Amino acid sequence: MLSYRHAFHAGNFADVLKHLIQVEILTYLHKKDKPFVYIDTHAGAGLYSLDSAVAQKTSEHLSGISALKDVNWPELQNYLLAVKELSQEGDQHNLYPGSPAIAQAFLREYDKAILFELHPKDYILLDDLMRRDRRIRVNKSDGFQGLLASVPPVIKRGLILIDPSYEIKTDYEEVVEVLAAAYRRFAIGTYALWYPVVDRDRIDKLEKGLKATGIKNIQQFELGLKEDSLGHGMTSAGMIVINPPYTLKATLDSVLPKISKHLGGGSGVWRSEVLVAE
Ligand SMILES: C[S@@+](CC[C@H](N)C(=O)[O-])C[C@H]1O[C@@H](n2cnc3c(N)ncnc32)[C@H](O)[C@@H]1O
Repeated sequence: MLSYRHAFHAGNFADVLKHLIQVEILTYLHKKDKPFVYIDTHAGAGLYSLDSAVAQKTSEHLSGISALKDVNWPELQNYLLAVKELSQEGDQHNLYPGSPAIAQAFLREYDKAILFELHPKDYILLDDLMRRDRRIRVNKSDGFQGLLASVPPVIKRGLILIDPSYEIKTDYEEVVEVLAAAYRRFAIGTYALWYPVVDRDRIDKLEKGLKATGIKNIQQFELGLKEDSLGHGMTSAGMIVINPPYTLKATLDSVLPKISKHLGGGSGVWRSEVLVAE
């Protein structure tokens, strides 16, 4: 039984890192006039109101997107523009787009998206949002199995976002197995895996597991509001990107120190590394 609802966390610093990287990759895919496919294994509800009772309960966006709206750092502009364009709909203001809504905004008429979401309520919200868009298929099924069934895709360029909630602790091992299997079938795709740093040992194991797969060209980025600790809760969030655009690391090297300082003050932390070279 899934209990995680992304609405409690939408727009927090972890979303900022994830969606900044998502936007940079989609912007890069856009540069060529050739179709791409976007696969989102754990899609969530798609669009969130930062004024909703659940968002207000945690107010996590206050140390995330809401603190960044007015900065004018050039490296953040693609992301901020995407968020701004999706932040109003009808009489609703202060919306925050999830990964599916961000991807949808980047789809051209010949691009495609395949989304997976298992939570019954979030699936309905996502399906309502996307149903009229013929470029997008929404599946109420397991995203790991769904990914394996979707690769190799017919369209041979693409971004695969893997963003589990890690409610089931075996997700940490499963992501490595699924990534390795998907990569064997579609080695030229760009893969972006999100992870929370709650227990650093798990992330060390995840990195070791990925290195052992033999996959090349892997970069790793983290953003945190404070140093790792043995206490409860997420201190940092990370993204592991396989086959990143060649521009990605330079952009993040430049902007992550600024974001971590702005959001975390003196205790903000960041990381940008080549985990496995090309
Ligand atoms: C972190 S949230 C996704 C947020 C979304 N990717 C975004 O950035 O806006 C993770 C989602 O995965 C869903 N989920 C959990 N296990 C799943 C599975 N095995 N297959 C598909 N969805 C799953 C949860 O219901 C939750 O909505």
